[in-house]
Amino acid sequence: METLIIEGAPALQGRIRVSGSKNGSLPLIAASLLTDEQVIIEDVPGLIDIEIMCEIGFALGMQVSLQNNTLHLYSSSVNRFTTPSSLTNQLRASFLMLGPLLVRFGKARISLPGGCSIGSRPTDLHLKGLAAMGAEFELENGFVNARADRLKGSQIFLDYPSVGATENILMAATLAEGETVIENAAREPEIAGLCHFLSSMGAEISGIGSSSLKIRGVDSLRGTGYRVMPDHIEAGTYIIAAAIAGGEVIVENVNLEHLIPLTSKLNEMGILVKKLNPGEVTVEVPEVIKPVNVRTMPCPGFPSDLQPPLTSLMTQAHGLGTLRETVFENRFRHIESLIKMGADAFVDGTTISIRGKNNLVGTRVRAYDLRGAASLVLAALAAKGITEIQDINHLDRGYENLDLKLNNLGCSLYREENRAEKLARIS
Ligand code: UD1
Repeated sequence: METLIIEGAPALQGRIRVSGSKNGSLPLIAASLLTDEQVIIEDVPGLIDIEIMCEIGFALGMQVSLQNNTLHLYSSSVNRFTTPSSLTNQLRASFLMLGPLLVRFGKARISLPGGCSIGSRPTDLHLKGLAAMGAEFELENGFVNARADRLKGSQIFLDYPSVGATENILMAATLAEGETVIENAAREPEIAGLCHFLSSMGAEISGIGSSSLKIRGVDSLRGTGYRVMPDHIEAGTYIIAAAIAGGEVIVENVNLEHLIPLTSKLNEMGILVKKLNPGEVTVEVPEVIKPVNVRTMPCPGFPSDLQPPLTSLMTQAHGLGTLRETVFENRFRHIESLIKMGADAFVDGTTISIRGKNNLVGTRVRAYDLRGAASLVLAALAAKGITEIQDINHLDRGYENLDLKLNNLGCSLYREENRAEKLARIS
């Protein structure tokens, strides 16, 4: 595991481009199993999670090539329906292979997924939805064995608008017999992205963007070319970075419509996110940042993935603010590191309370998950002195070239192995 060293941050200056969406790309890789024709996906971020998902596709027999952020996928040679547990263990999104494999082979054997340790993350809603379409499941030593003749369209009500369950059912429904309706479907931007992608392959989907998705099954899907939407969580992280460090930053490749829950909370804090040209924003920060009360919720509520980054910003607000986490029950591990850096914060049940403004001080801390790692990088931008973040590899699952991008804005940050190289050069 690597350590990221951040030697404080001056006011940031320059442009920072948001990469294509991680969570927007992952389901598209699974969905490419639904056709034997070529699928080309542009602006796919170069991230560990994407590589693992591609490796899973490769292990199934898919032809995969990722070059210059363009992914070429060709599933005509896919001949396996079992995903290797050594890969699926590392990635929650691996479970998205279930629906497409089931449609393709009438059976699938897939190990229960891994991912960030931010909660128990069950898969019951995925299974319940697919079972309503006629699939049968058996759990065996950490594997799900699934079987179905041609899936049949069904009326499915999700007890909770799970992103992954919506995606799995949606993909399976495109080639099922008859009509499927998913009620209480997730509405995160990547769901609409997946719907548009599937529609470009010939799927018949209506209600896109709403919580009621109607899918009329078709006999086959064709290949497609598609450009992934900008990553709104990465965009939100950089907007918060600009708010914490100050300076003049232009964030590029931003879809502000996907960020309304964040920008409206920032507004309450006195921070203005201003649109410049299409897809470009800048951030105006007041002398005194006001605290806010936030509750994470499924879309269109405040996204859980931005809770850890916002927590770091709250340490710079004057007064008492709270963040209540309702999506994942264990997304608080960044707090112990923030406290170590001088945050006046505590967790009571599912609520984080922070009384700012805190003078943060650089020290050695540890990252435990992807967005928690991002929150520590942001805190380091506000801290005096040097922050060392251990296990920073979590960050590489979701932020493409973050070190380089922040270096370009004037931050001084590097990986520990690079520090050793630096010292070797000096001596
Ligand atoms: C996706 C995102 C993740 C984001 C999350 C919520 C990807 C690859 N990851 O994760 O970054 O934080 O959405 O926006 O897109 N749940 C169940 N049963 C299920 C499925 C989920 O109880 O069968 C619960 C989970 O435990 C969690 C909540 O529902 O508490 C939300 O999970 P879900 O929306 O499924 O998130 P993911 O798809 O795992």
